Amino acid sequence: MSTITAASSREQRITARSLQQRKGKGEPFAMLTAYDATFARIFDDAGIDVLLVGDSVGNTVQGGETTLPVTLDEMLYHTRLVARTARRALVVGDMPFGSYQVSAEDALRSAIRFVKEAGAAAVKLEGGRRAREAIARIVEAEIPVMGHVGLTPQSIHKMGGYRVQGRGAARDAVIADALAVQEAGAFAVVLEGMPAELAAEITRQLAIPTIGIGAGAACDGQVLVLHDLLGLGDWTPSFAKQYASLGLLASQAARAYADDVRQRKFPGDEHSYR
Ligand code: KIV
Repeated sequence: MSTITAASSREQRITARSLQQRKGKGEPFAMLTAYDATFARIFDDAGIDVLLVGDSVGNTVQGGETTLPVTLDEMLYHTRLVARTARRALVVGDMPFGSYQVSAEDALRSAIRFVKEAGAAAVKLEGGRRAREAIARIVEAEIPVMGHVGLTPQSIHKMGGYRVQGRGAARDAVIADALAVQEAGAFAVVLEGMPAELAAEITRQLAIPTIGIGAGAACDGQVLVLHDLLGLGDWTPSFAKQYASLGLLASQAARAYADDVRQRKFPGDEHSYR
């Protein structure tokens, strides 16, 4: 590849910096989760701006009840599959529970593995004020960090379930968390599971882009989990919009195939070697 071609393909890449410019221009952006090369290719070709390799892989792919058991090595594996496939989207690796809480040094070590071994261009971690040091230490090493406040799934035991955060007296704490993430140097922040009015207020107060999930329409970007978008799970949360019913299509295809095999209709002559 010539230097010019390399430079122009770099220009088209979505970067942490270009997302920040979008906020300035008032241009919303779309983020989806992806965990493998197939969906990374489909979503990247469809123009999705950010591919988050979420630790929601623990629910959607591994079938677990929480994201807590997901390991750093598992996240690196899935991030690698997505990062080597995406051509335009910004690929963000989600730091799993236990990979950044022990110390800022430990957080940096984990973040470096996302970039060096898996090819991520940024990492995401949960927590506001309590994650300040970890975020600052990673940013100091020039790795862009996306924050995540409000309903943070890794805090399920403390929250007592997946509950909307920031109602009533808890409102100020969520605002303080979002501001702390920005002050620590994060380039963007996910706002999950909070009243739309609170997310709108945080979006007004922050200079960095906010990305909403169950947080109303005022955020600078939106994120959905791919299984919710495509109807691949057992159920769809009320805040998510299901844009397709791929689970149903897959089930219909599998039944039709099984019927054909049982009736010796597949493989026919056209699917057999001569
Ligand atoms: O893991 C994940 O998929 C996430 C999104 C829901 C933001 O953190």
